[in-house]
Amino acid sequence: MSFRIQPGPPARPNRCQLFGPGSRPAIFEKMAGSAADVINLDLEDSVAPTDKDTARANIIEALDDVDWGRKTMSVRINGLDTPYWYRDVVDLLERAGERLDQIMIPKVGCAADVYAVDALVTAIERAKGRQNPISFEVIIESAAGIAHVEEIAAASPRLEAMSLGAADFAASMGMATTGIGGTQENYYMIHEGAKYWGDPWHWAQTAIVAACRTHGVLPVDGPFGDFSDDEGFRAQALRSATLGMVGKWAIHPKQVALANEVFTPSDAAVAEAREILAAMEDAKAKGEGATVYKGRLVDIASIKQAEGIVRQAEMIAAG
Ligand code: COA
Ligand code: MG
Repeated sequence: MSFRIQPGPPARPNRCQLFGPGSRPAIFEKMAGSAADVINLDLEDSVAPTDKDTARANIIEALDDVDWGRKTMSVRINGLDTPYWYRDVVDLLERAGERLDQIMIPKVGCAADVYAVDALVTAIERAKGRQNPISFEVIIESAAGIAHVEEIAAASPRLEAMSLGAADFAASMGMATTGIGGTQENYYMIHEGAKYWGDPWHWAQTAIVAACRTHGVLPVDGPFGDFSDDEGFRAQALRSATLGMVGKWAIHPKQVALANEVFTPSDAAVAEAREILAAMEDAKAKGEGATVYKGRLVDIASIKQAEGIVRQAEMIAAG
């Protein structure tokens, strides 16, 4: 371990972030009734330019009027390259109540993008005497975003989560893809005449996880566009979980259960983790740093892996 200890991420469940356009208030109650840990009310790309003002008003009203339970409430503002974002921040900070927890900044390209929003938010929070400080989440969805991912992860103490936005990312990178996330038909290798598909999102996800873990930020997998393809969603989510991501977006309510299933440690995984911890306790009592569990090596590193699973399960049970 480096002299600098890796900070822990925020201790709150973030298995599924359910999105809905701010211009479609009819679904807000349904979003509130869902099993998503985080709600993202959108002001950005699911809202037409002519609807931005109405969407802001809808969201500000609904934050107070709808019973959102214990969900983390996040609003996605417009990008810093638009004429809308400052009004999003000013109206949300001046007019939304304390139920607003978080602002999601899309298309972040460098740490200064986060700094700019932080400066505005901080000034309004002070002016208004807000009690519940706003946290941030960002979307990495451009070439600049992934090139500067580490400085972005370190950009503000407000930053709690970072998502990969596959569609905008692919467009910015000039990737020859059309779908939003998942398997890409043309990304394969040939071995003895058979095709083997690779994962074109792997490196970007891994870069995001590393930046996030370095700075105590939650790494999250973004949208999977084909909401009629449950198996495709599950495969993408399982890969993300394997790489260290803690959750995934839902762009349709039917994806919420799928995300929760993948990102909640199974009873079997928790039981095994507890057994490994018990085996290591026995080893420690005998003065050994490593031992054998079910025919395989477990050592001090296994304790950390097992503790991570148990901690995640306990946090979810408590939430
Ligand atoms: N949250 C909660 N409920 C939702 C919902 C959402 N995001 N989207 C749809 N529903 C509801 C519908 O109102 C409908 O409810 P009902 O059974 O009571 O009538 C039910 O779920 C089934 O909806 P369905 O007809 O399959 O979908 P749709 O055509 O109404 O909407 C989308 C499909 C994709 C347009 C819609 O889900 C959506 O806007 N998703 C979010 C898009 C977004 O925010 N994108 C930005 C991030 S990438
Ligand atoms: Mg996007």
